[in-house]
Amino acid sequence: MLSCFNKNYYPILVFLVVMFSGCSTKKEDSELNISTLLQKRYEKLLNYEIDSLAFPRSYSYKDNLVKKVPSKDWTSGFFAGNLWQLYNLTGNQAYIKKAEAWTAFIEKEKFNYRTHDMGFKVYNSFGNGIKIKDNKQYEDIIIESAKTLSTRFNENIKSIRSWDFNKRVWQFPVIIDNMMNLELLFEATKISGDSSFHKLAVAHANTTLTHHFRPNNSCYHVVDYDTLTYQPRMKVTHQGINDESSWARGHSWGIYGYTLAYRYTKNSRYLDRAITTAEYFLNHKNLPNDGIPYWDFDDPAIPNAPRDVSAGTIVASAMVEIYGHTLDEKYLDYSKKVITSLKSTDYILNSDFEAPFILDHSTGNWPKNDEIDEPIVYGDYYFLETLIRLKNLKL
Ligand code: GLY
Repeated sequence: MLSCFNKNYYPILVFLVVMFSGCSTKKEDSELNISTLLQKRYEKLLNYEIDSLAFPRSYSYKDNLVKKVPSKDWTSGFFAGNLWQLYNLTGNQAYIKKAEAWTAFIEKEKFNYRTHDMGFKVYNSFGNGIKIKDNKQYEDIIIESAKTLSTRFNENIKSIRSWDFNKRVWQFPVIIDNMMNLELLFEATKISGDSSFHKLAVAHANTTLTHHFRPNNSCYHVVDYDTLTYQPRMKVTHQGINDESSWARGHSWGIYGYTLAYRYTKNSRYLDRAITTAEYFLNHKNLPNDGIPYWDFDDPAIPNAPRDVSAGTIVASAMVEIYGHTLDEKYLDYSKKVITSLKSTDYILNSDFEAPFILDHSTGNWPKNDEIDEPIVYGDYYFLETLIRLKNLKL
């Protein structure tokens, strides 16, 4: 049939066919029941080919491919975590088998002392596994990982060092994201009875509480400490639009981090910090009506700046927990709003899109022009976690 067309029109024809098929998929999807569409997306994760060296991290629209990373990447634990969480949500045993397989490939990270991202990698994979069923081997891996992470703690600065790169610029950089790794330390103490991990997590949380937050309740991304005076020498950003901006994901790590620190300590200063940081987020004039933040609250391109679904899902999950501590409905309302917004074809990927992700529109690293407005594995992770937390409230 194509032979009846002039060859010169062939590219136009291909373009029209691609456009037409894309539109029809979107149209079909908008007519699909949203839970059916979600099931189809979940199956993309279940059926994704197992590869011990290539953890799916994001989808690059520019290169038209799934970006895959080795286990040492900070995001490696999220995919296994998503499979464990999908078992929780669906009850389908097939997710357990896949989750176990992907989780096992992360074990070697328990000895990786060159990173602070131990919680993201090990707790989000093995930690989710022991939420599903007892597993002594997983517990031992969490304890070993906590020992390794502890080697990055500086007794004088009273903090865990985040990064080892950029040594000519930074002496002892600590990023707000690092609050998330404390969950692994708190759990390691609960499992082992060794209180040293808990104490170290508390010391880190206290130091960050003192130095990372601005008077207006937003937070810095990076605080660099002087290794001689042990005091902050620089407060800057690495992933935000400028040093004084509110990078949405960094801010969301701050909210989530102090909420989890309160869970394990019942220190009211941590809950206050979580709440004041949450209030800054909720009341910001640049938070869109659907609750999904722009990647940085201070991007002058707003409203034409990319969103960051991951920041929205991190905060949505944290706010279910804050609601549990405060019984203030406003936090629960935000979580529900985010889920309502995301459960639409504006955010859920098309049913036939070949990538192991659920949601579109996360932004990874804007200053490096990397992972802008794309599906990213940790956006899905906190979406699923929010669904589980809402389910557990039995409202
Ligand atoms: N370092 C974790 C993040 O990009 O949020």
